[in-house]
Amino acid sequence: MGLFGKNRRRKQFILASGSARKTLHKNLAFTATEQYKLIRANLDFTLPADVKCPIIGVTSSMRGEGKSTTAINLSYVLAERGSKVLLIDGDLRIPSIAKNMHVESSPGLTDLLMGKGANLSDFQSSILKNWYIIPSGNIPPNPSELLGSRRMSTVLSELQEAFDYIIVDLPPVNIVSDALSISNIITGIILVIRENYTEKKELERCLRQLSLSNANVLGCVLNDAKFDNGSYGKYKYRKYKYYRYYQSASKGTET
Ligand SMILES: Nc1ncnc2c1ncn2[C@@H]1O[C@H](COP(=O)(O)OP(=O)(O)OP(=O)(O)O)[C@@H](O)[C@H]1O
Ligand SMILES: [Mg+2]
Repeated sequence: MGLFGKNRRRKQFILASGSARKTLHKNLAFTATEQYKLIRANLDFTLPADVKCPIIGVTSSMRGEGKSTTAINLSYVLAERGSKVLLIDGDLRIPSIAKNMHVESSPGLTDLLMGKGANLSDFQSSILKNWYIIPSGNIPPNPSELLGSRRMSTVLSELQEAFDYIIVDLPPVNIVSDALSISNIITGIILVIRENYTEKKELERCLRQLSLSNANVLGCVLNDAKFDNGSYGKYKYRKYKYYRYYQSASKGTET
């Protein structure tokens, strides 16, 4: 896992772009969009076929690009299709899943990491019976070490037995090392880019960091793309441009 082998690189692409609408479910002020379903469909092609339960981290270069929005929506559309899906808040610095999903923030991931027992049913969402949400738990002093720890790996392996997909919302790559720490114990990373927000130099830095960590970038999501205001051409251009940046950033680790 984790290397940008030639066969992998061919599969990397922009997974889809989120629309200006942000989330999915009517009870949560969510609005379903085909774009998230497109991400779901594209993931089927990028994920390795031999992994029983892929663990997908969602990150970006900086704060506020739509990581949590993407993680929530992606996990929802996967569950909506009938899979048993777990969403984990892996942003142990500024967690937001509990708030977004209107659930308690504790017990959560940090409790599992500290070996405190919890029933999976405690995390079952009230929206879909096959959608589970593990919030952050109490904020620890050492998030980066925890996310990359052997204990985290063990917890994830146990959870993999119970689920079809695990989605982990992560902090931004250019600000803290947490996403890089966990990158080698998960199946792959989805990188969120926000239109008219993500800076080119930050994106390049982020891709470099992911590449140096041998993270398996499954693809990019272009969030908040303005399809409906006449800038579709700009979107297409950006899509190509970012993909090219990504290719050149990943060259160094080609096997
Ligand atoms: N496509 C979108 N359309 C409209 N609003 C959006 C969209 N994506 C995200 N937002 C809004 O932008 C803000 C930041 O989104 P979100 O919390 O998902 O980003 P993030 O990358 O997880 O941020 P952080 O780095 O702070 O964790 C939120 O208020 C969210 O509702
Ligand atoms: Mg977030």
